Amino acid sequence: MNILEFKEVSKIYNSDNVGIHGLSFLVKEGEFVALSGPSGSGKTTALNIAAGLDDFSEGEVLLFEKSLNEMSSEAVLELRRSQVGFIFQSYNLFPVLTVLENVEYPLALKGVVQSERVRKARAMLREVGLEEVENRMPGEISGGQQQRVAVARAMVTGPKIIFADEPTANLDARTAEKLLELFRNLNKTNGTAFVFSSHDPRVLNLADRIIPLLDGKIMGDGGQVH
Ligand SMILES: Nc1ncnc2c1ncn2[C@@H]1O[C@H](COP(=O)(O)OP(=O)(O)O)[C@@H](O)[C@H]1O
Ligand SMILES: [Mg+2]
Repeated sequence: MNILEFKEVSKIYNSDNVGIHGLSFLVKEGEFVALSGPSGSGKTTALNIAAGLDDFSEGEVLLFEKSLNEMSSEAVLELRRSQVGFIFQSYNLFPVLTVLENVEYPLALKGVVQSERVRKARAMLREVGLEEVENRMPGEISGGQQQRVAVARAMVTGPKIIFADEPTANLDARTAEKLLELFRNLNKTNGTAFVFSSHDPRVLNLADRIIPLLDGKIMGDGGQVH
């Protein structure tokens, strides 16, 4: 099954800022793919569009073989809540909720009852090695731990794909490596597809496939931009 397909997708912010330009790529079930490229190359724009968090100006985006162009915003929201996980560079945890409550949150949006939410959130926290800190607030744990809470929150609904925007950008090398190991384990064990962006060669090397972006386009072999 195709999980994500971009067909000649462009996002024009304004006359001076082109987010992405005629971008086409395909991600299949269970793939572990990286978007590479320097700052401003369109990684965040592409990921936000892929996850249905942002709109686009031209082209077509298919998520789970359904065209986002033809779906209502409510239908996109529903699809995102049930099938997609997103990990932001800045974690975006809710500062006033505990670690456990943060991980429960996507389940609450789906209407899962509390006892079931707690059970699933605890199981996810165990998987990312954070069961000890479930009652702490995000401000009381380290950056690496916060990032793992964000991973648990993205995983807890059992999505088919997880998007992660520069997930290792704020982590030291060892913590970054451990986070990628965690991604890989979840990918292998649950078959979850991952699309993550980075400009760190060590992180990129762990991907099965790299989609190299430059100026909002895919950089071809030999560094040609087309
Ligand atoms: N909200 C925005 N308004 C205007 N221009 C933007 C906005 N977000 C991104 N851009 C522009 O789109 C291009 C791609 O940015 P971005 O997707 O953030 O790249 P990356 O994540 O690779 O750093 C850049 O030229 C950037 O200035
Ligand atoms: Mg970015």
